[in-house]
Amino acid sequence: MSKLNGLLFLWSLSAFITSAVLTVIPSKYCEVPERKLSFIYNLTKLTSDKEDIIIKHDYEMIRMQLCSPLIKKCNNQDGYAICLIKNNTEKGIGRFPPKLDNEYGRTLFNFTGDDCLHGTNYTVTVIMHCDYDAETNSYPELFSHGDQQCNLYIIWKTALLCVPRTQTNCTVVNAGHYYDLSLLTRPSENYMIPLHIKNKTKSPKIILNVCQNILHHGIMCPIKSGACLDDPEKPNGYLSLGEVQKPPFFKDGTLQIEYQDGALCTQNVTTPHVKTTIHFKCDLEAKGPPEYILGSGIEDCHYQLIWYTPAACDIETLRDYSAKTAGKCNVKNPITNFTYDLQTLMNKDFTVTNVNGIKYKFRVCNALMDNTCGNKTGICNSKYGTSLGQANANLIWQQNGPYLNYTNGDLCENGVSHYTLIRFFCEPQGSLSRPLLIKEFTCQTIIHWNTDLVCEKKIKCATNNDDEINLTPLIQSTNNYIIKANDTEFHINICRPLVPTQGLLCAHGSAACKVSVTSKNEYMNEISLGFPEDSPTLNKDLQTVLRYINGSQCPENPTKTISSNFIFICDNNNQGLPVYKHYVNCTYIFEWNTSIACGAVMGGWTTPCTIKDSFLSYEYDLSLLDKTQQIHHVKSRQGKEYAISICGGEKYCNGSAICHEYNGYGSLGSVIFDYSRNDVKLKYSNGSKCNNNSYTSEVRFICNESMGIGEPKLLLESQCSAEFEWHTEVICVKYANSRNASHENALLCKKLLHPISPGLMLQLFAIAMMIVCALGVLMIALVYFGDLLPLEGRRFWSNLINFRRGMGRVHYCRVWFFVFLTLEYL
Ligand SMILES: *[C@@H]1O[C@H](CO)[C@@H](O)[C@H](O)[C@H]1NC(C)=O
Ligand SMILES: *[C@@H]1O[C@H](CO)[C@@H](O)[C@H](O)[C@H]1NC(C)=O
Ligand SMILES: *[C@@H]1O[C@H](CO)[C@@H](O)[C@H](O)[C@H]1NC(C)=O
Ligand SMILES: *[C@@H]1O[C@H](CO)[C@@H](O)[C@H](O)[C@H]1NC(C)=O
Ligand SMILES: *[C@@H]1O[C@H](CO)[C@@H](O)[C@H](O)[C@H]1NC(C)=O
Ligand SMILES: *[C@@H]1O[C@H](CO)[C@@H](O)[C@H](O)[C@H]1NC(C)=O
Ligand SMILES: *[C@@H]1O[C@H](CO)[C@@H](O)[C@H](O)[C@H]1NC(C)=O
Ligand SMILES: *[C@@H]1O[C@H](CO)[C@@H](O)[C@H](O)[C@H]1NC(C)=O
Ligand SMILES: *[C@@H]1O[C@H](CO)[C@@H](O)[C@H](O)[C@H]1NC(C)=O
Ligand SMILES: *[C@@H]1O[C@H](CO)[C@@H](O)[C@H](O)[C@H]1NC(C)=O
Ligand SMILES: *[C@@H]1O[C@H](CO)[C@@H](O)[C@H](O)[C@H]1NC(C)=O
Ligand SMILES: *[C@@H]1O[C@H](CO)[C@@H](O)[C@H](O)[C@H]1NC(C)=O
Repeated sequence: MSKLNGLLFLWSLSAFITSAVLTVIPSKYCEVPERKLSFIYNLTKLTSDKEDIIIKHDYEMIRMQLCSPLIKKCNNQDGYAICLIKNNTEKGIGRFPPKLDNEYGRTLFNFTGDDCLHGTNYTVTVIMHCDYDAETNSYPELFSHGDQQCNLYIIWKTALLCVPRTQTNCTVVNAGHYYDLSLLTRPSENYMIPLHIKNKTKSPKIILNVCQNILHHGIMCPIKSGACLDDPEKPNGYLSLGEVQKPPFFKDGTLQIEYQDGALCTQNVTTPHVKTTIHFKCDLEAKGPPEYILGSGIEDCHYQLIWYTPAACDIETLRDYSAKTAGKCNVKNPITNFTYDLQTLMNKDFTVTNVNGIKYKFRVCNALMDNTCGNKTGICNSKYGTSLGQANANLIWQQNGPYLNYTNGDLCENGVSHYTLIRFFCEPQGSLSRPLLIKEFTCQTIIHWNTDLVCEKKIKCATNNDDEINLTPLIQSTNNYIIKANDTEFHINICRPLVPTQGLLCAHGSAACKVSVTSKNEYMNEISLGFPEDSPTLNKDLQTVLRYINGSQCPENPTKTISSNFIFICDNNNQGLPVYKHYVNCTYIFEWNTSIACGAVMGGWTTPCTIKDSFLSYEYDLSLLDKTQQIHHVKSRQGKEYAISICGGEKYCNGSAICHEYNGYGSLGSVIFDYSRNDVKLKYSNGSKCNNNSYTSEVRFICNESMGIGEPKLLLESQCSAEFEWHTEVICVKYANSRNASHENALLCKKLLHPISPGLMLQLFAIAMMIVCALGVLMIALVYFGDLLPLEGRRFWSNLINFRRGMGRVHYCRVWFFVFLTLEYL
């Protein structure tokens, strides 16, 4: 221990010296010493001498610099590094210089600012994190204002906080087969493989990366280490298990990686240094992490791991396997089991333009409707009427993203037909999603398309049955749900990976994580409770169940991994959190009583003309609709004229609210508050006879505060039904008479209706914001449009009344907020 103390002393001393120097030359703040590795991270490039960095969200904006003062003054004053701009007022929330906190392998820049509330000052913590993939595209993200609005957290992933990268070629050709292990390389985290030595309370772990050095977040192994042993029971418990030196190779018929020249071997064997071998086994069904071969290394300084993974299969095998399970315009990634599905792109025309300005029209997985270039053409040079390839729906898997190969276009030269490759890539957040003509050869055209449809790990957060339960409103974007139990905390997100949280190091992508909290309020012993890989389903009791799988290794049964089940129980009263129930079979079981699980909410009608939402106890007086006129007339394109009188229908229309000539379109069957769409539907059924049936109708009111009373519009009509849409402010929350609604609810609504409310906001720069908004409009349009399609089904709506359907229910004020936040993911 004395050695350690000495070391600590040296570190503090060097910290002291560094800070002494730092006060003199400000730019020195950009140099972060990694003392354990005698290495300095140079963050100078994160600072610009031309302009401040801007994190923008809606009405709130942050102007910042990390390791130098702001270029522009904040609130007319110098000396700040972080400035919050809200409602045209600037507030210095971070004074320069920050306090650098880089002990325990983390790197934080702590800023203190002006006063915030009741004598507390603003603090901003900037958490730095190594990510080799974040180079020029590295931006800070504001991820939480915390509970109080005075503490802000910003996370910044950057390659500049990484040690120099040591990599090897990760591909191998063997006997004519091509292998690529690079899919296993992790740019911003390590693999952790516990050794599970029985009589140790804290199991040592092997920290590993593939074809690349491990990421050093306080891990005291040499910079080039590809594997490192972390033994928490030893004071200086890191042991290099080998360095990244040579690419993977085949030996005795198996694909292997060897990391050599680790720590000195103290055992009396012939090898001078510790080394590590990873044996890869092609297994198309496997998903787990590598396994430590029990006992290896301890005696012979040769640590061995075995890794069953599809990534160890040759590319052809993988492609064949994925082709076998491919469907129309969808295909599985054989390595992750993720399904790429592009069906939503199928029925639209897209265009790309080549360097000469010629437009090519194409469809995805589908032939063009116009025959300019021949019947089956998937992509057409309209100017010359040439087909650049015939359409097919055979999406083909490839590591970086799936593609389509449209073959058999018109002849180009030497009897060869033109073909076109349309490649899809996961769209980095906020970038533009559109196809681009990348390259043209004589007989080949290549289109690249960045779209979030091929981004993995984004499950649909709704059950797949007809009256789906949609959990989307529960997805968190800024803070995880936290359940406390004894000195344990469960951090949980719904359908999505956890929101990054300071100090919480659960396997990246986990959707739930169990941690112990020490007396010093630090997190320890993080256990991943699984990843969001499947959409919620219904169990045999028709409850909605969300299951996360493939978490950490199960302690009782090392061949299994930990999973977690969240059971959602319809409960109109409970707005609370999930509750931990028990642990069985390597599975953590939670229950969540929530109104979301009930589907859309049935409302009620009271005479003379009031609708009431049983959930929030809000009442809306629809007689306001008749204030200007008793009857609203709506003409269809064919000249059919409907009369609508929501409140006084009986008087005018045979007891119906809606009629056409002498036909009544039904009496009120149900009132449905669909919070996720911010609308209220009135459904009418059992109207006058229509063929062998009776007329039905529906009016959908959509809150629009700038519409006044508004006018109904015809949306759809068929022989025996009609559907109207009515944008109006009458059903907006400001018109609600709240009865019994708790003050709390009202407050929450108010807060969320005004997204200006400080707190809870994300990164996103100005442009990205605009794109997201545009996407949002598109999304909402799609959701909306999607609802219009099943016209036939509308007849049965009266039967559906008692069923859960559509989106979930929440405070509707909350919904837009969530819709907005979740756009990121959709
Ligand atoms: C840090 O990086 C900047 C710019 O990239 C460079 O000018 C500076 O010399 C570097 N400092 C050190 C100590 O390497
Ligand atoms: C914005 O600023 C104006 C005047 O500076 C003030 O009247 C108003 O209340 C502020 N609004 C908010 C939401 O803070
Ligand atoms: C920096 O801030 C974090 C939390 O925001 C805190 O845990 C840590 O102790 C602070 N470090 C220093 C050196 O002030
Ligand atoms: C808090 O802010 C006030 C001014 O807004 C400042 O005078 C004071 O020094 C700050 N306190 C700390 C601890 O930084
Ligand atoms: C990696 O190795 C493969 C085969 O061994 C070779 O075809 C490929 O060009 C190499 N890639 C790089 C980037 O060196
Ligand atoms: C585990 O316990 C056994 C017997 O108690 C002991 O011989 C062995 O050294 C222990 N192993 C470790 C790694 O501590
Ligand atoms: C060291 O080597 C000697 C001779 O080969 C052998 O007898 C002994 O068991 C070895 N010790 C260890 C700890 O492996
Ligand atoms: C892949 O997903 C399918 C369902 O889509 C499932 O049946 C299969 O078990 C999954 N395979 C693996 C290895 O998880
Ligand atoms: C192409 O479509 C046209 C019009 O639909 C049709 O008359 C013609 O027979 C089709 N040709 C082929 C080869 O299918
Ligand atoms: C696409 O199809 C063409 C023509 O059949 C073929 O030559 C080419 O190799 C295919 N390309 C890919 C990437 O599958
Ligand atoms: C908390 O402690 C109680 C009593 O000791 C125990 O029954 C329960 O399982 C613990 N909860 C968790 C989540 O460990
Ligand atoms: C645990 O899982 C096994 C098989 O996966 C099952 O047979 C058993 O019933 C489960 N036990 C409980 C208590 O759920």
